[in-house]
Amino acid sequence: AQEDDYGEESYYSIVRYDDKAKANVEEILQHHWAANKTGLLQTRSEMRKFFNPYKMITMTSDDDTRGQLKRFYSAKAKAMTLIPPGLRKLLPTKQLFSNQYFKTCSVVGNSGILINSSCGAEIDAADFAFRCNFATVKGYEKDVGTKTDVITFNPSILDRFYGRLKKDTDKKSFEERLVSYGKYVLWIPIFSTHYVSRTVHEILEYFNLNFKRFTNVQLAFPGNILPDISDYWLTQGIDEERISTGLLMFNIAATICEEIHMYGFYPFPQFQETSIPYHYDDSRRNKTRNNYDYGYRRFHQLPDEFVLLKKLHKAGIVKLHLGKCP
Ligand code: CDP
Repeated sequence: AQEDDYGEESYYSIVRYDDKAKANVEEILQHHWAANKTGLLQTRSEMRKFFNPYKMITMTSDDDTRGQLKRFYSAKAKAMTLIPPGLRKLLPTKQLFSNQYFKTCSVVGNSGILINSSCGAEIDAADFAFRCNFATVKGYEKDVGTKTDVITFNPSILDRFYGRLKKDTDKKSFEERLVSYGKYVLWIPIFSTHYVSRTVHEILEYFNLNFKRFTNVQLAFPGNILPDISDYWLTQGIDEERISTGLLMFNIAATICEEIHMYGFYPFPQFQETSIPYHYDDSRRNKTRNNYDYGYRRFHQLPDEFVLLKKLHKAGIVKLHLGKCP
């Protein structure tokens, strides 16, 4: 069994495009959307009661006291670790995006609903764009665009897709991907679980040796943020062992954006009459798990998150884009 950021052989449940899902989709499609700026500001100040959103974007060098203990947060295990050596040098000295606001933001999830959506131009027209998990852009530009200001990188990606950079070919493709997004922030959650701590050390070592070569990349490392964020989401009726990366990006967007557009958030195997794969880049599907046709991780409750996004959409706090862009 392969371990990943989730720290165990992940469980998948089959998700169906059932009547409830269909009804929610219809509700979204039929709603006449209008932006609700006050609602977004309220969400922002509610969130701030639970956590400092800027610490969620990144720790700064002030936060790294050598020898300090940090608690990892993961679905099954709670463990302590020392702050890894080599982190401090990579941390920004100042908070990122503090007092910076962007008029419109695109938050791009990785759902297969983006295939043939032609949403690329619309996504790129925003002032700021978030992407998840080092997502593929090349070859999908028409549907997903290219603009990238923040992209997340779960440590396990280094194991799953880049053989921990052991081979030169893996290193080359990792570095090609690193430079492919332009100038951006690479957001690396290193405290999610201790299962990937070896990989985390390798990532830190790699960037300590190489970061000068990648002047286009600003590294960001959120602290141990998940417990407080989960507490916030609990007040919104979301009870998950682990909030999805995409929803975490919404939290950041709510902090720095004035209007939020979400694309590629769709956890169902079908949209209207079309069947869709889990990821728009289906090569990213975990090939070691072949006994599911369409699954999500048990402790992510993406269908619950979808209902939440529906509510936020109807309240004008985000615009959730489904189907084709005009
Ligand atoms: O690793 P994780 O499952 O968090 O993310 P991913 O599969 O790389 O996709 C990035 C984000 O897009 C997820 O965290 C979800 O928020 C969203 N997503 C979705 O809503 N529906 C899908 N079918 C796939 C991803």
